[in-house]
Formats: sequence, structure tokens, C-alpha cells
Amino acid sequence: MNTTQSDNDAIRLLYDKITKIPMFWYWDALFSRATENSIYRKKAIAPLNLTGNSVILDVACGTGLNFKIIESYLRNSGRLVGVDFSPETLKVARNQIAKHKWTNIELVNMRITDYEPEILFDASLCTFALETMPDYKIAVEKIFHLLKPQGKFAMIGVKVSSRMPYKLGNAFMEWFSRKFGGIDMHRDVSTYIKSKCSKTNYEECFGGFYYILSTSKSCFTQ
Ligand SMILES: C[S@@+](CC[C@H](N)C(=O)[O-])C[C@H]1O[C@@H](n2cnc3c(N)ncnc32)[C@H](O)[C@@H]1O
Repeated sequence: MNTTQSDNDAIRLLYDKITKIPMFWYWDALFSRATENSIYRKKAIAPLNLTGNSVILDVACGTGLNFKIIESYLRNSGRLVGVDFSPETLKVARNQIAKHKWTNIELVNMRITDYEPEILFDASLCTFALETMPDYKIAVEKIFHLLKPQGKFAMIGVKVSSRMPYKLGNAFMEWFSRKFGGIDMHRDVSTYIKSKCSKTNYEECFGGFYYILSTSKSCFTQ
């Protein structure tokens, strides 16, 4: 097994483990569900120009925290595919789908780089996940490969802050994100995407710890 594969397995096991801790269910009920309406998620999803006919890919969808906002555009039509390699997080996502009676969502339990669908997507979204992926460059290539020629991409990323006073919290945020989310805040995913795209929209938020990036496949160079 190579290092990337064992690092990926460690991340998957971390998410499987966290989701199975009984405390997670309280946390999910109290806090995660509140983030379903987060302004950051709304801002990231808006440039995808979703309509009722859109076919959208939620990369590393986790427990499905983007679904409610996406469904506010799709209105249970179109198609939403959520891919995540942690079976335990997908169980939570499945419960949400049942609770809301959404019939247009398909969940795929797979590593994104192994996903080979027969369709191309109008839009692709990836929130709080690319910084968990040791092979994020391959994942980014894959995401763009799966888009239609005019397809849109948007993400929320996590990084160290360069702003005062927030950057005083970098050490804590780095520790917390790594320990509980397998996130490497130094992965610099946005620089890589910017280097591959002729045009991107980039905005920092949450004290500079998060950023929202959007672009389209037509701007991407293979
Ligand atoms: C911090 S969670 C974010 C979940 C969700 N996108 C959200 O915004 O709430 C990161 C997710 O990425 C998933 N993940 C990490 N690497 C992956 C990969 N290579 N392929 C598929 N899923 C992956 C994990 O299982 C986890 O559910």
C-alpha cells in the first residue's frame, strides 16, 4: 500500500469513527443541522446557477449538509449525486434524505478519484473536503473531468488565517481541524486550482480560515 492510499484510509476511518460516536448524533442534531443554512454554503452554491433541471455532484458530501440548499434550487427534480468514501457518514446522509423525502439524490460510497459515472455534470461542489485529501490534485483533475464543457465548480476550503487578530488562532485551528477532521490547513488547494484556471472567483471568510472559490470548466486547463 502506498502512502497516499494509507493516508486516505486513515481519513476514511477517522470519519467512520467520528460518525459512530454517540456524541456525534447530539452534535449533528444541535450544530451540524444549523450549518445546513450557513451563509457560506449558500454563497458557495449560488454561482453554480442551479435550476430544477441541474445534474450536480457533491464531492465528499459527508452527512449531506449541502443537500438542503441544493434542494432549494432543484426542488426534488434534476439530479444530485453525493460521493463519499465513508460509509458511516453516508448513513447519516441517507437518514436526511428519507426525512426530507427527497427522491432525486443518489449516494455513492466511493473515493472520488475512483468514481467513473456514465454522465457528465452541470455543476460540482466540494465543501470542507479537498484539504482532507492527500491526493487533492488528482481529485481536482477528476472533478473537472466530470463536468460538462460549460459546467460550474465551487468549493469551500480551509486554510490558516493571515489576518489579525484571527491568525493568533492558527495553531488551535490547525490542531483542531487535523485531529477532528483530518484537514491539513497548509494544503494550499486554492493556489493549485488558480494555477490551473484562467479565471476564478475567490473570497475569504470566517476570519480568513475559510475561502469560497468558484470557476467553470471552460476556464480549466488539463
Ligand atoms: C469535513 S467532511 C465535509 C463533509 C461535507 N462536504 C460538508 O461540507 O459537511 C470531509 C468529508 O470528505 C470525505 N472524503 C475525504 N476524502 C475523500 C475522498 N478521497 N473521496 C471521497 N470522500 C472523501 C470524508 O469521508 C468526509 O465525509
